[in-house]
Amino acid sequence: MKVAALNGSPNRDGNTALALSHMADSLREDGIETEIIQIGGQVFHGCAACGHCRTSEEHMCAFKEDAFVHAVRGMRTADGIILGAPAYYAGIPGDMKSFLDRAFFSSSSYFRYKVGTVVAIARRAGAVNTASQLMNFLNLAETITPPSQYWMAAYGMEKGEVMSDEEGLQTIRKNAQAMAWLLKIIDAGKGMIPAPNEARRERRVFTNFIR
Ligand SMILES: Cc1cc2nc3c(=O)[nH]c(=O)nc-3n(C[C@H](O)[C@H](O)[C@H](O)COP(=O)(O)O)c2cc1C
Repeated sequence: MKVAALNGSPNRDGNTALALSHMADSLREDGIETEIIQIGGQVFHGCAACGHCRTSEEHMCAFKEDAFVHAVRGMRTADGIILGAPAYYAGIPGDMKSFLDRAFFSSSSYFRYKVGTVVAIARRAGAVNTASQLMNFLNLAETITPPSQYWMAAYGMEKGEVMSDEEGLQTIRKNAQAMAWLLKIIDAGKGMIPAPNEARRERRVFTNFIR
């Protein structure tokens, strides 16, 4: 089993990367490999709302930056997804937001019933808000979220400081253990317990508020 973990910080080896590595270490102890995929610091076009991905081959986005295609393929083929980001003005950094808008608009149906979780890093305030914003993507993609003892936030400013946040690291480890547990339960149930959409598939209803 494989987990795709996105680093939404432009710092490849900063606090978000360290938090993701901490999670990956815990997952490895449970026999699950993690690919950390760098998102932050790269240029991603924002969603153009063109609808191309609705009808295109493999529902691929009209904009095809190499980093975008690589990351989306990694997420589609993974059993679990982790969205990691630092708080920038109490929210998701711009390049990560552009990536997520396009990745989830084009690929949410590929993520359904994967195990998905988030981690947000902050110096002081906005981590919970950032974690909630990241969760919005996973919730609408119908992923399954592992629990932990606290919101998935850890604290640090200078590179490496997050490794001193004992409670934050424990929160991350507990989440990783629950993620591994859910991944194994889902894997063990394959072929025995049908996923909800297989058992009673319903057409998606769209009702806009104006009609
Ligand atoms: C543009 C920018 C905006 C930031 N906004 C916030 C913020 O709103 N709240 C906060 O606590 N920290 C904020 N920070 C600090 C980072 O979230 C913090 O340093 C974090 O550890 C960086 O993670 P990284 O090492 O993975 O890049 C901001 C940093 C930058 C560069």
